[in-house]
Amino acid sequence: MYLSRLELKNFRNYKKLKLKLSSGINIFIGDNAQGKTNVLESIYVLALTKSSRFGAENNLIQQGCDEGSISGVLCDSSKRKELKVCLSKNSKKVFLNDKNVSRISDYIFHMKVILFGPDDLDVIKGNPQNRRDFMNIQISQLYEPYVHYVNEYNKILKNRNEYLKLLNLNQYSDPRYLEILDEKLIDRAVKIYQYRKMYFDFISSKIGDLFEKISGNHRLTVQLENNLDIVEYREEEIRDKFSKKLKDGRKKEILQGTSLYGPHRDDFRFFLDDDPMKIFSSQGQQRMAVICFKLTEIQLFYETVHTNPILLLDDIFSELDVKRRNQLIRYLPKDVQIIITTTDLKNIKKSIIEKSKIFVVENGTIEEKVE
Ligand SMILES: Nc1ncnc2c1ncn2[C@@H]1O[C@H](COP(=O)(O)OP(=O)(O)OP(=O)(O)O)[C@@H](O)[C@H]1O
Ligand SMILES: [Mg+2]
Repeated sequence: MYLSRLELKNFRNYKKLKLKLSSGINIFIGDNAQGKTNVLESIYVLALTKSSRFGAENNLIQQGCDEGSISGVLCDSSKRKELKVCLSKNSKKVFLNDKNVSRISDYIFHMKVILFGPDDLDVIKGNPQNRRDFMNIQISQLYEPYVHYVNEYNKILKNRNEYLKLLNLNQYSDPRYLEILDEKLIDRAVKIYQYRKMYFDFISSKIGDLFEKISGNHRLTVQLENNLDIVEYREEEIRDKFSKKLKDGRKKEILQGTSLYGPHRDDFRFFLDDDPMKIFSSQGQQRMAVICFKLTEIQLFYETVHTNPILLLDDIFSELDVKRRNQLIRYLPKDVQIIITTTDLKNIKKSIIEKSKIFVVENGTIEEKVE
């Protein structure tokens, strides 16, 4: 799939912007603080309705404005879809072919994106919540029901936490209500665990070989971790272990007034030759590991949803040495739309520049560069 048009109104430092993109490689070049990342971010928001920058939701609309919007035309095999995200101070509305889509979860399955950016290292170095957010976003784009299960799980979790707090204060003491919530929670958890397992099984089966080709003889593995001692992720196993944990841990949960076990506490870790990368690896190794993770994901997208996602590469070339830069390019699929930002065309191979559409970004305006 590819985005053929992008239109912004009052988004970050763009008052008004209209662009026609190439279905191949697009390069946005400009000095610092001119609006390169903002363009990539707008495409990310158009796809997923969320900012790619952590905690940045409130700054998407241009300062001094009450509303902003991002719209685009997505070409997906023979289909053409018009997507739009309208942002206002207190709400967000999404449209598909001019029709309002009331549930965001029904919207985000249309446009697939994978972002390679400066914050990628958070996937290894950040906190578990960063990783869970990342994993949820990625899996939501792959398996349509996933996000619904996560939303339902989170609602039940919220009720359960409120009830645990009441039990903690001794205000109610009907344990049957907790049991009903537990059952509902476990039903959704089974699904969430199984989708996560599917996702990590695919990544694990491919990432080692890819990393070895790119980085020599090191063995990279990625492991999904849960706090229920689940090993095989069969439905029966998940149900048994989750309910046992809830029974055994009931007193502790009431004492702390919060739910301590389940997929909302999952994490995943990268290991290089069996050592946890977060502690042992160099920054360059960590970056390559996340890049390999995302390259593996491109294959997973292709096999699962039968399309290549749109790749957003935010200034990552400048940080890689020439050898790794070329390796990365070699492993990108050929028939994929890529949107790259850079401060200097010198960071990009000549043969790539020659086949790319180039845009010059300057203080919230963009001009197509014609030779
Ligand atoms: N809501 C907003 N309203 C107006 N301007 C904004 C808003 N949010 C961010 N900006 C401005 O957008 C400018 C460009 O940001 P952006 O991150 O896209 O730059 P960049 O070209 O990627 O720079 P770099 O090369 O340093 O990464 C910043 O100077 C910032 O002040
Ligand atoms: Mg930037």
